[in-house]
Amino acid sequence: MSDFRFHINAVPIHGFHCHRFETLSSTQDLLKEWVSQGLAAPGTVVLAEGQTQGRGRMGQHWASLQGKGLWISVYFQPYLPVDWAFAWNMNLALAVCKALDTVAPWGAWQIKWPNDWVISTGRKVGGMLVENQLKGSIITDSWVGIGINVDQDAVDARLPFATSLLAEGHGSPQAMRISGVALLDNLLEALLAELERLREPYSPDKGNWNIPQIMDEVDRRLYGLGQNVPFVCEERMEYWVPLGLSHDGGLRVRSESGGQIQALYHPHHRMFYGPQF
Ligand code: BTN
Repeated sequence: MSDFRFHINAVPIHGFHCHRFETLSSTQDLLKEWVSQGLAAPGTVVLAEGQTQGRGRMGQHWASLQGKGLWISVYFQPYLPVDWAFAWNMNLALAVCKALDTVAPWGAWQIKWPNDWVISTGRKVGGMLVENQLKGSIITDSWVGIGINVDQDAVDARLPFATSLLAEGHGSPQAMRISGVALLDNLLEALLAELERLREPYSPDKGNWNIPQIMDEVDRRLYGLGQNVPFVCEERMEYWVPLGLSHDGGLRVRSESGGQIQALYHPHHRMFYGPQF
């Protein structure tokens, strides 16, 4: 499926080319199809007002109610070493978090390891699906799907740990004025600004100076940092105290007593959902 009218009518925002659809099965799938057909350049954004088959990570369904959220996919050609895949992910997650701060400043938005955004009670406001393609050890193509719940009136009873920007605004005048366009605009601007940080000149002995800085910033926004929180591991519940990220994508944790320190890896360990402590 490809519709050239949307190519011609792409709206430029901060150098991205945005294509809006009323309803799609999945923005991610359409964007991938466009790229495979040579129809999309880096910086192409596909936005749908609603998705019928929105995809989450690990093959999960992503509920994308019509007109109730920001459902977009962005195409990048990052050309980054595969060792930086986690930094790439975190850089994207940080950008979105910063955009949420600007557009919805009533929430102290945090990053839930590895790829979600939550409010401080642990309720999830959005998630990210990053699909990379490699050539050798280089990430050549990356499809970044971002879903943010904007204005559900009430949290869906089937998703007790989900929330929306508006629901967390508790009827404040600022929340009532929130707009999807402003969110998209800020999000793309934040992506651009953050990604510059990964583009700093790279030297083989020094690496990229900004990666530790990015990781530190993410650490400061990590949900559950310093608290004893539950993780699901092979159907068992384990409790760990997150200390911060490790550069290979792990989460450094300690046992509550402090006697044991180790790194957890997703999806073997998954942070349990919801306002649990
Ligand atoms: C997750 O939390 O599991 C990631 C959810 C990602 C959802 C977005 S919505 C836009 C894009 N299109 C999709 O089909 N999925 C992503």
